[in-house]
Amino acid sequence: MDKKLRIGVFGAARGHSMISILLNHPHAELVAVCDKYEPLLMKAKEAAEKAGLSITCYKTFDEFIQHDMDAVVLANYANEHAPYAIRCMKAGMHVLSEVLPCETMAQAVELIEAVEETGMVYAYAENYCYMKHAFEMWQRYQRGDIGEVMYGEGEYIHDCSSIWPRITYGERNHWRNRMHANFYCTHSLGPLLTATGLRPVKVVGFETVPPENMIELGAFRGTGIEIVTLENGAVLKSIHGDLKREPSSINYQLYGQKGMMETGRLEGDKLLNVYIEGNERCKGTWENYDPVNTIAADFASKHSGHAGGDYYATHFFIEKILGNPDGKWSINVYTAVDMGICGILAYRSVLNGNIPIDVPNLRLKEERDKYRNDNACTNPEIAGDDLLPISSFGTPEFPDEVYDKVRQLWLEGKNA
Ligand SMILES: NC(=O)c1ccc[n+]([C@@H]2O[C@H](COP(=O)([O-])OP(=O)(O)OC[C@H]3O[C@@H](n4cnc5c(N)ncnc54)[C@H](O)[C@@H]3O)[C@@H](O)[C@H]2O)c1
Repeated sequence: MDKKLRIGVFGAARGHSMISILLNHPHAELVAVCDKYEPLLMKAKEAAEKAGLSITCYKTFDEFIQHDMDAVVLANYANEHAPYAIRCMKAGMHVLSEVLPCETMAQAVELIEAVEETGMVYAYAENYCYMKHAFEMWQRYQRGDIGEVMYGEGEYIHDCSSIWPRITYGERNHWRNRMHANFYCTHSLGPLLTATGLRPVKVVGFETVPPENMIELGAFRGTGIEIVTLENGAVLKSIHGDLKREPSSINYQLYGQKGMMETGRLEGDKLLNVYIEGNERCKGTWENYDPVNTIAADFASKHSGHAGGDYYATHFFIEKILGNPDGKWSINVYTAVDMGICGILAYRSVLNGNIPIDVPNLRLKEERDKYRNDNACTNPEIAGDDLLPISSFGTPEFPDEVYDKVRQLWLEGKNA
């Protein structure tokens, strides 16, 4: 292949991870970066110069999208991906979207239809599916090692209170201050859906009480829990939030008809433990080991963020566009939406006394109309009359001083 894919990155905070990968990828090159915060553009430019490349920087998306590019990485605000993804695909660009795929059910429908209409590649950058332990579980499940799934658990416990100034800048309306408990569900649920390849059909949601140390910083929501039924009747538990636990916990379990797999929970544990039952009832063997990534191992080892997951989301996107075999691991729009809408619908369950809610199969055109105008969310700019409370425990009024204090810490480069 002589010509590299020309890729731009929108949002250069988390997006810097993709920027570094694209500056070194054999099949793609970084050509443009967009962020309204200038210091991040400077950082991107410096990294490009160090790699011997020249990139164009933009402060507005409208200018950025005019750049001559084959594809765009969306690493902008987590609740704004779908509208930008749709604009990029309609302008003839492939899209790699950071988490989450959409803010509302209406956006889920519109996003899927934009992919179908334009024929562009949409890939979901759920890097937790490619973490060494999760990716190995995915591959072993697909090989049939533990048989058909009966139960699973996914856990993303990360107390972000200390880094809150760095990731919200003291902005009252930053998405991290405004999202509901169940929104950010794809780090915990995603790897279970990709591993099993099964579709969710029902969800029941829960929200724990909001943590005090987040309330002090102007964020009000508990930890989100989704109990998801899969199309084969298996049940999954997904939990994600700011509970007390250091280091943070990114753990998965899958129980099948022939055995089970679970990730190591404590520092020093092996990353993965696999039990496979033999021919005799209740007797089997254990394997306890640290999986090693073998795909594009040379390049991947240079970008090992998030337990190796960061490299692969971008790499598989590129390989999918190019029609290469590794592109099969790229997460498509249907699976992305399956993951994301479980959280959106789980919150409805929470607000209605934890009732079970059907998860539609939006691959089917006849299931889409019901949701086409469903804008319910916690964002006043999108929800219109369907504005939801930020938490099932209410929407408190925080005085400006709370956010001013967080902003001051950010300006001073300090943690909370
Ligand atoms: N997969 C992971 O491991 C992981 C980790 C961290 C963040 N994320 C995701 O990355 C995304 C970005 O998160 P973040 O941590 O960088 O924080 P963030 O959401 O605050 O950063 C977004 C960046 O995009 C820029 N931006 C947003 N809208 C813009 C616009 N209209 N014009 C110009 N610039 C704009 C902002 O200036 C900011 O620098 C989110 O979707 C988040 O969920 C993923």
